[in-house]
Amino acid sequence: MDGQWFPEPRRSVAFIGSECYPFVKTGGLGDVMYALPKALVAQNCDVKVILPKYRCIPWEYQEKMVYRGSFQMDLCADGRSFFVGIMEYVWDGVVYDFIENDEFFGYGNPYTNLIDDLPRFCFFSKAALAALNYMNWVPDVIHCHDWQAALVPVYLRTMFDQTPLAHAKTMLTIHNLRFQGIYDVRTIRYWTGLPDYVFNKDALLQNWVDANLFKGGLTYANMITTVSGTYAGEIQTAYYGEGLDAHLRYHSGKLRGIINGIDYGMWNPATDNKLAAPYDITNVLQRKPANKHALQEELGLAQDDHMFVIGLISRLTNQKGLDLVNAILPELMDGHTQIVVLGTGDAEYENAFRTYESWYRGSVCSSIMYDEGRAHRIYAGADALLVPSQFEPCGLTQLIAMHYGTIPIVRETGGLKDTVEPFNTITGWGNGFTFDHYDAGLLLDAINRAKTHYFTNRWCWDEMVQRDMDKDVSWENSAIQYRALYMELTQ
Ligand code: ADP
Ligand code: GLC
Repeated sequence: MDGQWFPEPRRSVAFIGSECYPFVKTGGLGDVMYALPKALVAQNCDVKVILPKYRCIPWEYQEKMVYRGSFQMDLCADGRSFFVGIMEYVWDGVVYDFIENDEFFGYGNPYTNLIDDLPRFCFFSKAALAALNYMNWVPDVIHCHDWQAALVPVYLRTMFDQTPLAHAKTMLTIHNLRFQGIYDVRTIRYWTGLPDYVFNKDALLQNWVDANLFKGGLTYANMITTVSGTYAGEIQTAYYGEGLDAHLRYHSGKLRGIINGIDYGMWNPATDNKLAAPYDITNVLQRKPANKHALQEELGLAQDDHMFVIGLISRLTNQKGLDLVNAILPELMDGHTQIVVLGTGDAEYENAFRTYESWYRGSVCSSIMYDEGRAHRIYAGADALLVPSQFEPCGLTQLIAMHYGTIPIVRETGGLKDTVEPFNTITGWGNGFTFDHYDAGLLLDAINRAKTHYFTNRWCWDEMVQRDMDKDVSWENSAIQYRALYMELTQ
């Protein structure tokens, strides 16, 4: 760090969330929890990331963790208490503290079902604060992520109000408003042990029978952010608000949108050792075909450089616009197009894509699995990447695609709208192909426009490939904006 310029003054931040690459990742939250702390370290922030110590964390990381201490913590309304262990791992200037408790995290995946997940994330939110007090570390800002950490601001302003930690300000980031942690009041009151007054309609109470953890967190947080400017506006409307639009409109004075980036170390086609032929902007046009060829070979597709290869890398849920894809997929099969799907999720979509693979063997390949390496090879080997989401808070796959010179085809919603400038046939400018309404015909039209362009105007397509690789999708700008918000909170 010698000689490096840092903005002054220094700020300390505790990140609290339920997943973080490379320890555990199910989607974009895992990427953000890894990349944003690193980018903040470069902005003169001192960052600790607090995570559950899931059993599924690879052993190579578990064995490097160092014991920081342990204690018993009261949790439930009847005074039932639980063991809290703290295991620490320091990497790239970021300190990772893992909360250990075998009853809650000693099995399976990070998310199972709501009835099991609710107690474990109530425990996690309280234990994260208790661990900070135990370690005697009072950060300037406690930055919480999604419903799993939404109780942190609530605990801080109630049961931790008389502790040193109460000096910290809180920020709650919405990565996905669809999941809120809603359950009946009795159960949540029991597990959280929170005082009765937080179960009122302006905070945790959702209706007369349910409590909503996210809603409570939004009330008590000093600042709310979400992962794009467009989504920040959308969630204040009934269509995207998931029942919390009025609540968010009420709190809109403290709501901001900051777009995500991608980590250029994790996603770099020039140094990516998972690729058949790594490349950069100067040789992408020569080397991308080799990656396409290797991908076709890996997936058992017809090996033909002239095919238009469309990738889709996604959790297979209705958020991702898969109903539109299913409705039009047969119409894409013109003998010049190949479709490559990578994802896991709802059985209806998994089965639909398996069926398409069997119908169009050699042209469609559905990898119903989670595979980091394959994801990298699809980003590099495909010509275009499809993201037709019904809603998309930010979306990282379109950013990674652009950085790998793969043209995004997206619906104009949330972060997709903020990051993909539609191709303009008159100026020849733009980053990808877009459509606005959630309509299968419009998706088909956007794909056909991309295809036509690819087959009839390759020179212009290639220019877009290079323009996309050149686009700044790094975390730097966004980290500067987060830092500015931390400063605003702690003036
Ligand atoms: P979301 O968080 O809604 O799932 P994002 O676009 O923000 O969507 O992030 C998805 C992340 O997960 C990206 O890094 C993407 O490459 C990765 N990903 C999604 N599905 C798979 C999969 N089946 N195998 C490997 N990586 C995947
Ligand atoms: C959520 C959203 C996605 C976003 C990611 C990281 O999972 O669905 O759009 O990119 O969080 O913020």
